[in-house]
Amino acid sequence: MINHYSTLKPSYREDLREFSKKEYNKFVSLNTVNDWSQLRWKNVGNPYIVHSFAQEKKDWEKEHNEALPVYTSWTMFNRSFHSWFVKDVPAEMSAAKKEFIRSLGSFHPNKVKAALGNISRIHLWNYVHRIQDGIWDPRGKRALFEGLDVKKPRILFLGAAEGYEAMQLAAMYPGGEIVFVDYDPFCKDTRFEEFPNSYPFLGTNEQTGGYRIYYKEDFHTTYLVEDIRNLSFGREFDIVLSVGMLEHFPDEMKPEVVGWHRKYLKPGGYIIMTTPRVQLRSKLYYEIMADVMNHTYRELMTVEQMGLYMYENGLDIKRHGYIKVHNGIVAQEKSVI
Ligand SMILES: C[S@@+](CC[C@H](N)C(=O)[O-])C[C@H]1O[C@@H](n2cnc3c(N)ncnc32)[C@H](O)[C@@H]1O
Repeated sequence: MINHYSTLKPSYREDLREFSKKEYNKFVSLNTVNDWSQLRWKNVGNPYIVHSFAQEKKDWEKEHNEALPVYTSWTMFNRSFHSWFVKDVPAEMSAAKKEFIRSLGSFHPNKVKAALGNISRIHLWNYVHRIQDGIWDPRGKRALFEGLDVKKPRILFLGAAEGYEAMQLAAMYPGGEIVFVDYDPFCKDTRFEEFPNSYPFLGTNEQTGGYRIYYKEDFHTTYLVEDIRNLSFGREFDIVLSVGMLEHFPDEMKPEVVGWHRKYLKPGGYIIMTTPRVQLRSKLYYEIMADVMNHTYRELMTVEQMGLYMYENGLDIKRHGYIKVHNGIVAQEKSVI
């Protein structure tokens, strides 16, 4: 018997509740586009480009007098982002508050400003990641992944980082295999390695068809430290997934990025992608968290813009909608329909 609880841990929220009808409907009845062939760029506009960058990136560029190479930018981002996932958030919130009070006593404007910055970042992280579970978001992601026609799927996760979404998929469609791909070794050795073994993924019991809770060690996984452009797979995956990938490439590269997903997909397989939504609160988030998040080129887009990139590059959109701060799309290749 599964206890459908939600509980706050020091670093994240565990949530074993079923998704609600409202959450699920964000992908079915809130679908805003009936006919993608009728949609035009002049109607949907262009994505919003984030222009505030991490100090680390700015310092590197000043020192080297050139633009930060893309690969190096990802290595910086992954170390930075990971350091936030492992924080004991309540302890850090109280430390930040004490530091702020101390800084007031110093009468030093730069110290006060820095301490205020620390307070706002840790409180924002607490709200977005821990209270609202906007990143490890099991209910939203389960609602997005629901209803796929797959059995024991082979899942390819492009730009896998810590691997969260593929593990949630594998819990829902058990008995298959996950291949994670990320060219930053830190993702395999630290982000995935340190992903908490006790984090529960609510999924399906293969034997009974009822619920079962899975943990990281229950999945059959292979983690490749490899450039996506160098993979030697054929069309062998039932699901090809990426989370936060498309928005890091300017328009001239987006066809190639969508192509990476198509290349390894079995006929009839599913492509699942998510990107951050453009909304005032996301703009604010990437502004306040610039030092943590903004080492790379980044866009924020609507689900219509995201879907149009996918549709124009050979995909048939099966479902589209949003989960909290992300757009989510499930697609198949046009030719197989
Ligand atoms: C923005 S992250 C994805 C978001 C992720 N969920 C997270 O928590 O960081 C994109 C990931 O893709 C990886 N990546 C980008 N380009 C790649 C490439 N050409 N080959 C392999 N991995 C790549 C980066 O190293 C990074 O870990």
